[in-house]
Amino acid sequence: MKFDYLFRNVTVIDGSGGPEYRADVAIKDDTIAEIAPAIGGQALHEIDGTGRVLAPGFIDVHTHDDINVIRIPEYLPKISQGITTVIVGNCGISAATATMKGSVPDPMNLLGDVTQFIYPTVAEYAHAVEQARPAINVGTLVGHTALRNNHMDDLFRTATEDEISGMRKQLRLALEQGALGLSTGLAYASAFQSSTEEVMALAEELAAQKGIYTTHLRSEFEPILDALDEAFRIGRHGKVPVVVSHHKCAGAKNWGRTVETLKLFDKVREQQDVSCDCYPYSASSSTLDIKQITDEFEIVITWSEPHPEIAGQSLKQIAESWSMTLLEAGKLLMPAGAIYYNMDEQDVRRVLSYPVTMVGSDGLPNDPMPHPRLWGAFPRVLGHYSRDEKLFPLTVAVHKMTGMSAARFQLPKRGLVKCGYFADLVMFDPQTVRDVASFSDPQQPAAGIEAVMVNGVMSYGQDKQVIGRAGRFLRR
Ligand code: ZN
Ligand code: CU
Repeated sequence: MKFDYLFRNVTVIDGSGGPEYRADVAIKDDTIAEIAPAIGGQALHEIDGTGRVLAPGFIDVHTHDDINVIRIPEYLPKISQGITTVIVGNCGISAATATMKGSVPDPMNLLGDVTQFIYPTVAEYAHAVEQARPAINVGTLVGHTALRNNHMDDLFRTATEDEISGMRKQLRLALEQGALGLSTGLAYASAFQSSTEEVMALAEELAAQKGIYTTHLRSEFEPILDALDEAFRIGRHGKVPVVVSHHKCAGAKNWGRTVETLKLFDKVREQQDVSCDCYPYSASSSTLDIKQITDEFEIVITWSEPHPEIAGQSLKQIAESWSMTLLEAGKLLMPAGAIYYNMDEQDVRRVLSYPVTMVGSDGLPNDPMPHPRLWGAFPRVLGHYSRDEKLFPLTVAVHKMTGMSAARFQLPKRGLVKCGYFADLVMFDPQTVRDVASFSDPQQPAAGIEAVMVNGVMSYGQDKQVIGRAGRFLRR
């Protein structure tokens, strides 16, 4: 048989941002073998794609799936969205290279418990991914907070020369073993005391090996312009591309200020390579942070170690039933997770439509009541924002989740529907694609995602089941 799969009469949105076109697309082994108006010859499987879009498999550039892709290799929350690659190790926290001495520091506890941090090198992490053979491809960043935790006895100060050189050595090895770059989570207390110079020293290692720098900024609140300046300065120093993670203006006093932040992006982009990722919701989610407790917007608790029964209730309800202040209740709930309704919808739209913004879910896979972005981020951009709200054309939406992302994160031969590229593909119905996951019912597969192929293996189908597991570890 000439081909393994033949998608007949599909509308190809190729991921480049260019116009869509009708074609037949043929797959042989793990590769896109031919694209033509009408392909003759036979295939083992023919799929009628009339009225359907065929796009590159989506790349989720911002995830915390490090441990879950190994523990739960079907990985339904992501493949059901049409995602074929996840980048793990964001926000300063990575399972790869992290070793735990005692308890897991916040926010590394988002990834798993102490027994699950068993990958002291990227090579060992890659091996575990390959053994687990998840449904989706996995690439990893190395987390700054993970490095700090390996080399420091106290996270609440800046690192010494010796500690920095220990971190550099470990980062160098990680990059040699295929890590894509370095991530930081400077807003979190476990990294907040690090100096800009500490991160700049690490960025020097990136330049030598052409890594990327991604950052959860030191602040997403009022000091955001200073935080952006710091990120861009680190990128300039290391001569590396900067990706600002989940760009937002958080906090009621900060609403509307993406006009200023994006103006700064415009200016800086003339001189250096900077971009950002964004999830399509006006509520954020992370561990519960006492500093972020306020009555200016709603906060919902997603988990609490001492009070697991309250998951899904608002902090206000909890505080009222306990007859105490929000802050007092928050302290009793720790350690805990939360959803913060802390953004302005207009800011979300502005960031999402910005030309160099990629889509990243930032989903938290261990939360019992997760933010719906874990299951819904990508179809929400396609259905709600592109089709229904007409924020940008579908070709642009797909570009922001495929071609743009593969280029930024240096994933060769992925992110485009192109001959010779890996057959990571998603076929969806542009009329019906939408996010089904909601805040009240967040663990729901998307509608309209009809077929997902990973490395030429059909992996997810119309009955919403995972039918193949062909994901690979992607080395830089
Ligand atoms: Zn983050
Ligand atoms: Cu994150």
